[in-house]
Amino acid sequence: MRLDKLLAHSGYGSRKDVKKMLKNGAVRVGGRIAKDAKEQIDPAADEVTVFGEPVIYREFIYLMMNKPQGVLSATEDSRQETIIDLLDPEYLRFEPFPVGRLDKDTEGLLLLTNDGQLAHQLLSPKKHVPKTYEVHVEKPVTKAAADQLESGVDIGEGYVTKPAKAVILENESGRHKLLLTITEGKFHQVKRMLKAVGNEVVYLKRLKMGDVALDAELAAGGYRELTESELAALKNKKHSD
Ligand code: URA
Repeated sequence: MRLDKLLAHSGYGSRKDVKKMLKNGAVRVGGRIAKDAKEQIDPAADEVTVFGEPVIYREFIYLMMNKPQGVLSATEDSRQETIIDLLDPEYLRFEPFPVGRLDKDTEGLLLLTNDGQLAHQLLSPKKHVPKTYEVHVEKPVTKAAADQLESGVDIGEGYVTKPAKAVILENESGRHKLLLTITEGKFHQVKRMLKAVGNEVVYLKRLKMGDVALDAELAAGGYRELTESELAALKNKKHSD
């Protein structure tokens, strides 16, 4: 990769700032002063220093966010707040994007990364990555409805959903709730599934994606980097549930 890109991605300012540093002779590659922004660097092999300090290059970031309601799962929007607007500027240089989308009124687990390969793996319909949602609905969920949700329902345009897992939860404070685990990601899928069994979603929160669960410590809008074991679990193609 280009030297100026490596430095900019490692937190040494914009490409313009980096150009200035190069011009001033602050940057060395393998001990020799480097002035050419276009020089090709192998981050795994070449030792790059700035003012004598080794540059620690990181290519990817992996974040989990507790997406709040009312915020778009998009990288930019001219009028509405996006999940990217919630991030500290230090993360922006990695150009993260959301792994899939949650509706504006859905909250909960959203992964953000700049690792296109991992995002593709997690979103590929062939990989059947399970996603678990806490679903609050308008009316009680009958056992028959839960069975239907599990075996597949027609969500319109002749599409019948793949097998899912539906667990009816205790009715607390007048709320009818269930946990629904699906392995697909059709547009508005959970809402359409509940509609197909004569109900209506009033609140939706994603709790889990693959083997990674939402950190209960994260307040709405909060985020943190994935731990090594969470990342390893996501990269592992087999899922435990
Ligand atoms: N299903 C939905 O209907 N909405 C979401 O945000 C996610 C899954």
